[in-house]
Amino acid sequence: MERLERKEHDFSAKLRQASVIGSLREYITWQRELRRSSDSARFPKYGPVSVNLDLTTACNFSCPHCVDSRLLNTGDYLDLETIKKSIDTLQKNGLRSVILIGGGEPTIHKNFENIVRFSKDRGLQLGVATNGSRLDRVSAVAEVLQEGDWLRISLDAGRESTFFKSHRPRGRLSLESILGGVRDIKKINPKIQTGYSYVIVWGGIVVNGYELTPNVDEMDQAVKNAREYSFDYVSFKPCLLRLEVSQKESLFDTPDPEREERIIAEIRKNLTSAEALASGEVKILRSVNLESMLDQKVHELKIQPDVCHSQFFRTVLAPTGIFHCPALRGVEHARIGDAAGYKGKANLDFTQARLEHSIRSFNARLECSMVVCFYHHVNWWIENFIASGRPVDEIPVVSDNNFFL
Ligand SMILES: C[S@@+](CC[C@H](N)C(=O)[O-])C[C@H]1O[C@@H](n2cnc3c(N)ncnc32)[C@H](O)[C@@H]1O
Repeated sequence: MERLERKEHDFSAKLRQASVIGSLREYITWQRELRRSSDSARFPKYGPVSVNLDLTTACNFSCPHCVDSRLLNTGDYLDLETIKKSIDTLQKNGLRSVILIGGGEPTIHKNFENIVRFSKDRGLQLGVATNGSRLDRVSAVAEVLQEGDWLRISLDAGRESTFFKSHRPRGRLSLESILGGVRDIKKINPKIQTGYSYVIVWGGIVVNGYELTPNVDEMDQAVKNAREYSFDYVSFKPCLLRLEVSQKESLFDTPDPEREERIIAEIRKNLTSAEALASGEVKILRSVNLESMLDQKVHELKIQPDVCHSQFFRTVLAPTGIFHCPALRGVEHARIGDAAGYKGKANLDFTQARLEHSIRSFNARLECSMVVCFYHHVNWWIENFIASGRPVDEIPVVSDNNFFL
């Protein structure tokens, strides 16, 4: 059996893991039946493999670049009972991983520790994306995390002043105090994978009339910090813009090939030097869209198949409802359920019926033609397999390892 290396973005390999390949095979079979005759096709009885769980819309930072800024501080949050029942229901129906993220800041939900423990008690893999402001709460549960679980801090800076301008934190916080907090957590439990998340901001990006602070020349400093404070990896990704009218994500606001070329050259130079500094001590991860930006193939990530297959395997549960795509959280036409939509089997069945409708009716080729899609490759992999007519039993199985989608 093939082994899944820790390639964060190899989603099709993740779906071929022994514990989830049944879901993939049934999904492909259903799609084929549907394309032959929709009457006999039966929607597979599996819930998502992975959920993005947005605990709260509250955030104690005010990052000018935040793609989710319109969703924040609305007073909405998920209550503990809904969260526990939803996790329980999903886990009994195929869920393998939970990513605590946002929307808001997961570590300021009043039941954060309880939710982490509950998820781990249910045998789920767990990831936490945080701004690092409440690492004391992560420390309190660090001992329950296991090999494969991760903590990713959105730092986006190498230097203190840039950190401050890029996040505008509430309260007395510094980049250094957060870095020290991560090192302490790593001492409590070295098995936790710790990530230094870095949204690359180049000159001239204006969001809501505010010019973002460029950090493109601090990428190597971030790697130095990561090494010094025992991070496992630095994850570089380009700054996405959310388009005003459609609420969709994009790179670059207005086409300007010369400017784009200059920016790409600058990022490439700094990435090369950052990678040299990492020298095997910390891993450097490039996001899917960074890779394609550097290869000048962003346009390819905008060409989607008609069907978005990923929505069957990964969804977002947020205080404002369940959404079929992380890039469309909070967008009304991407909502497939309310916040209680996974709370108990009857609710799950109802939500899954809406998901079936979404898979059948949402045209990703049209709807996501402007979106730099993270799931582009896996969607095409599934689409091509469906079209190939090859027996689903021929899909090679990969051993279980990483269920984050
Ligand atoms: C909105 S934050 C919410 C979770 C948590 N508060 C945090 O700070 O990680 C979730 C992720 O979105 C990313 N993000 C926010 N704005 C972005 C942008 N304009 N481009 C790329 N990623 C962005 C952040 O870096 C973070 O990893």
